[in-house]
Amino acid sequence: MATAADYGLGPNTFPRGWFIVAESKELDQGPLAVRFFGQDLALYRGESGRPVLLDAYCAHMGTHLTDSNSAMIVKNGEQIEGDSIRCPYHGWRYNADGDVDDIPYHDGPCPKSASIRSYPVVDNMGCIMAWYDPEGRAPDYEPPFLPEWDDPQWVRWELDHLGELEIHPQEILDNMADVRHLGPTHGAPSEYFENEFKDHVYIQRQGGPMQLYNCYLYTTTWYTGPGLLLSKQVFGDTVIYELIANTPIEDGKVKCWHACLYQGSESPATGADREAAKHAQAGALEAFSADFNIWQNKRPALKIMQLKTDGPFKVGRRWYSQFFQQPEDAKATQRELNGILHTQGMDKPEDRGHDIDQGLPF
Ligand code: FES
Ligand SMILES: [Fe+2]
Repeated sequence: MATAADYGLGPNTFPRGWFIVAESKELDQGPLAVRFFGQDLALYRGESGRPVLLDAYCAHMGTHLTDSNSAMIVKNGEQIEGDSIRCPYHGWRYNADGDVDDIPYHDGPCPKSASIRSYPVVDNMGCIMAWYDPEGRAPDYEPPFLPEWDDPQWVRWELDHLGELEIHPQEILDNMADVRHLGPTHGAPSEYFENEFKDHVYIQRQGGPMQLYNCYLYTTTWYTGPGLLLSKQVFGDTVIYELIANTPIEDGKVKCWHACLYQGSESPATGADREAAKHAQAGALEAFSADFNIWQNKRPALKIMQLKTDGPFKVGRRWYSQFFQQPEDAKATQRELNGILHTQGMDKPEDRGHDIDQGLPF
């Protein structure tokens, strides 16, 4: 298992940014125990509907707040009060900020030292997204949102839960520069290709003939921070947004999700559109699974043997490294990288009539 340090990323072990930690509907079944960023975490939805993510262990005696399902307070459905949660062992109550605000057998103020860490979380496009910063600093950008999510012509996604991958997410991010895998791996070789860096956003524009549907494929793909990829894909009459998300569990191990938002034939989308959306998501998953399968079985590429006609892996890795830096240093990295890069031997998007970027949120 190769680590952030092995790739020369740092000084932090885990990247700062917005990440998926669950699908929204998973929280409807009750609190969840999850593990990300090398930490055990407690995730639940408060009575207001607000999702809450806390460090998992109660300060009193170290009980996991959401992984003790046979305690009577849990069985009775009495663990959540408002947006607070009671520890299943002795009932200390944690509010959404991670502070203890009630101890059932104690009068007077609750100890401030009992506070545990609370992470910024949002319910966004069917996903619970959390902001991670190793030092608990506030988010410095917004999580990505597609206005189409709220448009009734679009069929909303449900996530494919792809599980854990024993690979550093650096290898997943490498895909953004990797023009030369699109033919052999996906049967959709690029005819034109470019990358653009805009602060915390990393964009890829490309297109070419696609074997799967026997038509021309145009894509604009972008990472908003280190964990959330969205890709607008246009082929034939079909328009989709694909989501690919990676969230570090340990240093060198990630959890991944996949989904597609699908443009229906009319507004609101019809039953037939919903069926077509499922097929489109399955087709996109099949294509993505080819990457996933390679990542499952490859050795780490700590150094890439770069040819001139490969995509700009090195610059892509520099862009990714900003999330492992202190925010001031990340700003300097952004200033250094911002701009458009072309790959030798590839046409430019404008040469091939790439015009699918309207309305994209960057
Ligand atoms: S261990 Fe949590 S209240 Fe005692
Ligand atoms: Fe790929």
